[in-house]
Amino acid sequence: MEQYAIKGGNPLVGEVEIGGAKNAALGILAASIMTDETVVIENVPDVRDTNVMMKAIESIGGIVEGIDRHTVKISGKTINDVVIEDGFIKKIRASYYLLGALLGKYKRAQVTLPGGCNIGLRPIDQHIKGFRALGADVRIEHGLIIAEAERLRGSHIYLDVVTVGATIDIMMAAVMAEGQTIIENAAKEPHVVDVANFLNSMGAVIKGAGTDVIRIKGVPRLHGTEYVIIPDQIEAGTFMFAAAVTKGDVTVKNVIPKHLESISAKLIEVGCEVEESDDAVRVVAAKPLTHTHVKTLPYPGFPTDMQPQITVALGLSRGTSIVTESIFENRFKYVDELTRMGANIKVEGNTAIIDGVNKYTGASISAPDLRAGAALVIAGLAAEGMTTVDDIQFIERGYEDFHIKLKNLGAQIEKVACEREQKKFRLKTG
Ligand code: UD1
Repeated sequence: MEQYAIKGGNPLVGEVEIGGAKNAALGILAASIMTDETVVIENVPDVRDTNVMMKAIESIGGIVEGIDRHTVKISGKTINDVVIEDGFIKKIRASYYLLGALLGKYKRAQVTLPGGCNIGLRPIDQHIKGFRALGADVRIEHGLIIAEAERLRGSHIYLDVVTVGATIDIMMAAVMAEGQTIIENAAKEPHVVDVANFLNSMGAVIKGAGTDVIRIKGVPRLHGTEYVIIPDQIEAGTFMFAAAVTKGDVTVKNVIPKHLESISAKLIEVGCEVEESDDAVRVVAAKPLTHTHVKTLPYPGFPTDMQPQITVALGLSRGTSIVTESIFENRFKYVDELTRMGANIKVEGNTAIIDGVNKYTGASISAPDLRAGAALVIAGLAAEGMTTVDDIQFIERGYEDFHIKLKNLGAQIEKVACEREQKKFRLKTG
């Protein structure tokens, strides 16, 4: 199995180009099959989750043609099936977007219950509630979610929790429903807005995305489009925290600074300098980090997908910090691994109490999920000595060329496939 081998201690310095947003791409790829015309999507990140989504589209007869590494042409005209039950789709949580897309277009869909990161209970009751409100019959049988409707009719839907997934899924199911749909208590994340903009570029009429009330006027059909996906807020934030933790100086390029405000604010609080320009943010960590408190919240709050990365930074900060996770109930599993690197963190329920230490020390650790995996890599970059990170397939679900981008910033990191390669890396890095 492949691992990352890391020799810590080098500050990260330089510039890094941020790719397209994985979570926007997943919604947009699924939505692209809702027209029989051709759709061209640019800035698609080349990561496992997006590749699984494209494979799923092909598995039901859609045509997916790679124009270059980040541009795909998709045609949903040849789709001949609305059943997606292959085991591979379970690997991604966002498989539920195919439910909304297929139901919206064909009024029928059967999709395997989603998997994705194991960060706690991840119900889909709000998706189901939305589909039912639009007139679909929804049931779960043999591990499949089955949604069917004679016709879909616009409806007034009040979400019980702020959920990105259900907001996007219901939006897709509603764009071709008859009449008007209103989604209240909608998620406001940048990727919700991006999927709405994409659907609008296909002829949908969606207003209010980015606020907590989204209004959708049903249209009879959607048409082809060309669309560029927004930059990945979480990839950018991960490199910003990597700069902070390694006492570096990193400019993340090709970003939308507005989407990074909650992340920049916390970096400033812990003592980093953050400079924003039109499409770049520079993080300089010249001073020792200081403690702070943070609670994860829906956008524009601090993102849950950045919680492990900030915890790694606070673990090395002076004083005591408190991190409260309010979105997912089981998102501190990586703390055991961080403790093995010398962190002093106590987890009580959804709160981590962190007493900052002077240094981490390298260890053999495993990535428990996507974001925690990336955070542990960052810990390894700051640690004294050698760290190996197993289960990097989780990290590759959402980060394109992670180790290469880090290497270009001066990190000593290599992807190794066997003991011999690991030894070679040890010899090379001393
Ligand atoms: C998406 C992101 C994920 C991010 C999360 C929160 C994708 C593919 N994944 O996940 O990276 O961590 O948003 O920003 O975009 N909930 C319900 N019922 C539902 C749906 C959700 O109770 O039907 C709850 C969840 O358990 C969670 C909260 O709502 O507590 C937010 O979940 P949601 O925003 O839906 O997360 P995902 O779309 O799964």
